[in-house]
Amino acid sequence: MLKPNLSEAKKRTNKEVLTKSFEYTKLDNLKELGSGKKYFIRTYGCQMNEHDTENIKAILENMSYVETDNYEEANLIILNTCAIRENVHNKVFGMLGRIKNLKENKDDVIAAVCGCMAQEEVVVNEILEKYNYLDLVFGTHNIHNLPRLLEKAVSKKEIEIEVISGEGSVLENLPVKRDSKFKAWVNVMLGCDKFCTYCIVPYTRGKQRSRNKDNIISEIKQLVEEGYSEVTLLGQNVNAYGKDLEGNYGLSNLLNDVAKTKIKRIRFVTSHPWDFTDDMIATIKSNDNIMPYIHLPVQSGSTKILKSMGRMYSKEEYMTLFNKIKSNINNVTITTDIIVGFPGETEEDFKETIDLVETCKFDSAFTFAFSARVGTPASKMKETVSDETKKRRLNELNEVVNKYAKIANDKYLGKTVSVLLEKESNKEGFLSGYTDTMKLVNVKASEEMLGQIVYVYINDVKTWSLNGEIRS
Ligand code: 5AD
Ligand code: SF4
Repeated sequence: MLKPNLSEAKKRTNKEVLTKSFEYTKLDNLKELGSGKKYFIRTYGCQMNEHDTENIKAILENMSYVETDNYEEANLIILNTCAIRENVHNKVFGMLGRIKNLKENKDDVIAAVCGCMAQEEVVVNEILEKYNYLDLVFGTHNIHNLPRLLEKAVSKKEIEIEVISGEGSVLENLPVKRDSKFKAWVNVMLGCDKFCTYCIVPYTRGKQRSRNKDNIISEIKQLVEEGYSEVTLLGQNVNAYGKDLEGNYGLSNLLNDVAKTKIKRIRFVTSHPWDFTDDMIATIKSNDNIMPYIHLPVQSGSTKILKSMGRMYSKEEYMTLFNKIKSNINNVTITTDIIVGFPGETEEDFKETIDLVETCKFDSAFTFAFSARVGTPASKMKETVSDETKKRRLNELNEVVNKYAKIANDKYLGKTVSVLLEKESNKEGFLSGYTDTMKLVNVKASEEMLGQIVYVYINDVKTWSLNGEIRS
């Protein structure tokens, strides 16, 4: 049993980051382990988790497991979890209760928890105490060991736990079963060294590790060959790419090189304002295949709160960057993340957040009530905002955010925009996709058009989506 350890997870050393390659040979004698069996996987949280799930699916299918979207008919259930807020914790624990019922009524069910919650010492202790009918817990640093771990879990009665708490390595050549045939996630850096005081990610995902650029470029070239039109470069703090490597090669250089692969659309998430350079702005501006869409979390409009969050910029510095991006990149969309109810946030601080949203008029924002995460500095701060006040502030904020989301979308009425048609829409006979500026568009089109980038005339506007018709 290898349990997570918070003090190990906190460490940052100068140890060199190891790059490991996934060894298919390890699978050789386990290729039939899942023969005749079905797996169900549920993913919580961010794109990084979704991409990990794509790796896990491929590993399982290489072991002959077949996917099902009904957990009740699965022989293997995996919950790939997120630790960022309490409400996801609660959802996961609720699902564990349902899995318990299933296990009581059905033999031959292996249940596993992985992802960021598995990296939390408190969670694993709780699992050992109350949910020890689970078969396997594995962390974010050892997905590549899944075949071996499953072999153990299948053959033994007690729970198998392998969670490595450390700075992490870079894994290359993990197999992947991508959700989409048209757009792909590509990890460019893993982990985070920013240690914002509320955030659990630096403890669950390890230190900042950038992938070697040649590996990234060859993955993208391969995607182009396979017919992919869009890549999203992923990193918890993507614009710090390269800072842990020798030399001055950073995200701006990487974006330029990715642009040369001629992939039609390039996106990148998530950007921390601190690392957003003028070079990046110039690069986005000068390459047509880098999309004019930037997710730039602000978190709060109060400089006092930003300081306490450890964000390393003031409200004014954020605004300066925001305006620079807006005035330099034609037609750019900027979205953000905001937390309300951080310890010490007064009504005045909250009003500054509302004012900032009124000034920036974000195209959209993900808004959250502060949730204390064990082990983070903010969890030791005295909570000064009641749950009721957090809820009220969140509602007020959402109203303002929604108002500007609709205003931003209204500007599209009567315009023609390019859209990558990526999936069937909920409405029959319609497909949906995103504009270069990341607006969701629904359009009447036949299935054969999936994967095409088409021009769409927008004739109807909602707060969170646009409707239109194809123009040739
Ligand atoms: N409480 C509330 N929101 C949080 N986020 C991260 N940690 C917390 C927390 N402890 C939000 C931030 C981040 C987004 C992914 O989740 O806004 O940008
Ligand atoms: Fe968390 Fe993002 Fe801050 Fe890193 S930069 S600690 S991932 S909020």
